[in-house]
Amino acid sequence: MEKLKLLVSQQEIEKAIGRIAEELKRDYRDQPPLLVGVLKGAFVFMADLIRALDIPVEIEFVKLSSYGTKTKSSGKIRVVQGLRSPIRDRDVLVVEDIVDTGLTIHFLLDYLAKKKPRSLKLCALLDKPSSRQIDLAIDYKGMEIPDVFVVGYGIDYNEKFRYLPEIYYLEETS
Ligand code: IMP
Repeated sequence: MEKLKLLVSQQEIEKAIGRIAEELKRDYRDQPPLLVGVLKGAFVFMADLIRALDIPVEIEFVKLSSYGTKTKSSGKIRVVQGLRSPIRDRDVLVVEDIVDTGLTIHFLLDYLAKKKPRSLKLCALLDKPSSRQIDLAIDYKGMEIPDVFVVGYGIDYNEKFRYLPEIYYLEETS
């Protein structure tokens, strides 16, 4: 059995997105970026983020798969759905839900860098710095969280809990 415990409220999510949006508006005002969302987890964050911006962004999505346990990435990652449009000379901003070990995003940034964008930056709503296995700069960050397994706000556990408007952590009960 899983028990959900509230970790980040709707209000805290909104505040973090508002702050990121201000930073993005400042940095991208004269060069509207192409936002590349990582499916499926980042879709809710992406939707709220673009509506908090008043710059004309374009969006794309990529889907990756990682072989591992249900709660930890193995680092063996593959692109399941790649980009549908070229990114050469574009200002690309990757939008991710959570950076945990960092292996998934490291792989994706490498994959995108080979396509020669003009700039490539990373935006993540949640950061679990204590689980990091690879050095990684998060250019725009919502908030740091402890090493717990979270769900809600687009983020799932076995496809469950994505619909929840807040972010919860899972507590195993027997
Ligand atoms: P990383 O490769 O370990 O950084 O893992 C990144 C991906 O693992 C994220 O995009 C999520 O899809 C998934 N992930 C990591 N932590 C969690 C979590 O707490 N809940 C749900 N998915 C997670």
